[in-house]
Order: sequence, then C-alpha cells, then structure tokens
Amino acid sequence: MSDILYFETLSSTQTYLKEHYKQLDDRTVVVAAQQTAGRGRFDRLWISQPGGLYFSMLLKPTQSNFLANLTQLMALSICQAVEKYGVAPNLKWPNDVQVNGKKLCGILSEAVAQDGHIACIMLGVGINIAQKDLSHVGQPAVSLYELGVRVDKEVFLQEVLNLFFQRYQAVLTQGFEVLRTAYIERFPFLGKQIAIKNGTAALSGIAQDLSPRGTLLVQTNSGLQEILIGDLQV
Ligand code: BTN
Repeated sequence: MSDILYFETLSSTQTYLKEHYKQLDDRTVVVAAQQTAGRGRFDRLWISQPGGLYFSMLLKPTQSNFLANLTQLMALSICQAVEKYGVAPNLKWPNDVQVNGKKLCGILSEAVAQDGHIACIMLGVGINIAQKDLSHVGQPAVSLYELGVRVDKEVFLQEVLNLFFQRYQAVLTQGFEVLRTAYIERFPFLGKQIAIKNGTAALSGIAQDLSPRGTLLVQTNSGLQEILIGDLQV
C-alpha cells in the first residue's frame, strides 16, 4: 500500500512532493493538518485551516496514456467514500465533489516532466471534513461536519485510498471506460445548460455526454465541442 507521511504544517503538500519526489516511493501520500500556501486549480489559493483533510499522492506510473483519468478516479473514490456515511454527493466535471451545489472537495493534479517523459504526477486533494465555518472560502462550500457526519480524517483517508487503488491499474491500462458508468451516475449535468470557463475563455451550451476518454462534450451554437479542461458552471 502507500507510505503516509504526516505533517502538522506545510506550505503545501503539493509543493512538498514537487521538491522531494525523487526520494519518495510511488504511491507515497503526504498529509498536512494545515497548509500556509495551499494551491488550487488555475493558480487559486486553497485556504487550508485545521479540520480539513489536505493530502497529495505521488504516482509514478509506467504508462501514461490516461493520466487525466486518474484525477477523475480520485474524485469518484471520494464520492463513494462519502456515500458510505449516508451523504449523496455529486461530481462536477472534471474533479470537484459537491453536495447540494456546495463544494466539499477539490483536486489539483500536476505532473513533472523529465527528459521528455512524465517522471511523476501529484494528485492534491482538499476535503472539507470537520470545519464548522467555511464562510471565508469565497464560494459555496460545505464540510462533512456541517452535513452531520463525524469521521476521523485518517480513517476517511484510508477509505479513499482503498477505493482509489482498487481501480488504479485498470484505469492506467483502460482509461475512463473503467469509471464511466459510475461517474455518469454521479454527474447530474448531462442535458443541462452549462458554461465552461478556462482562464479568460468561456463557452456555453448543453452538456451532451462524457466521451470514452472522459472529456466533456458540449453542444454549442457552433457545433459539438470537446472540452479537455475548464471550470464547469451551472
Ligand atoms: C481546486 O482548486 O479545487 C483544487 C484544490 C486542491 C487543494 C489541495 S489541498 C492538498 C493539496 N495541496 C495543495 O496545495 N493543494 C492541494
């Protein structure tokens, strides 16, 4: 299984892995009780006060066909771990987990390239577990505590890791097909009017489908568009 390294405070578990990945084994997980410079997608700040579960997982896959799908596997594993506590979360493509429109979890995936190949990828995960007040976050957010769930962070992490590694090898070789049915069951936006923002660029249309490789197909005024990355807004 995974080596798990626990820290009280780090600037960012993601930055820690970037600086130490050469000495660390495949599947190492770094956890910090709080982060002073947690990072989100699109260079956003990720406020990381005590109570949340903040971790980054180091992966050194020998195959690199379907790396983007590993983030989706992580999001799905978190959804399924949350469901065990009687909460019904949904996925917000590509990798947010939310409950009733409020963000429960975000994932930042980054890769390090070396000599023309991927040396490692780092899946950075922030889950709102025990925070009692998330009003400072700047977007609708919710914690498991606020949903009435009392769970130990280490127990929850172990459940997520088990669910993730059950399908890890299969996703590396077969990609999104391994996840597609379970992912779509938790993705309530198909058939709905959505907007996708990617930096300053924006596009809107009807979310049509998720492709066999996990990209989002959006029917726009100018035809069907395949979206590889972005922020989904409804
Ligand atoms: C998002 O923008 O939704 C992704 C947020 C990812 C935050 C996690 S917390 C643990 C890891 N360390 C970081 O600095 N960021 C990720």
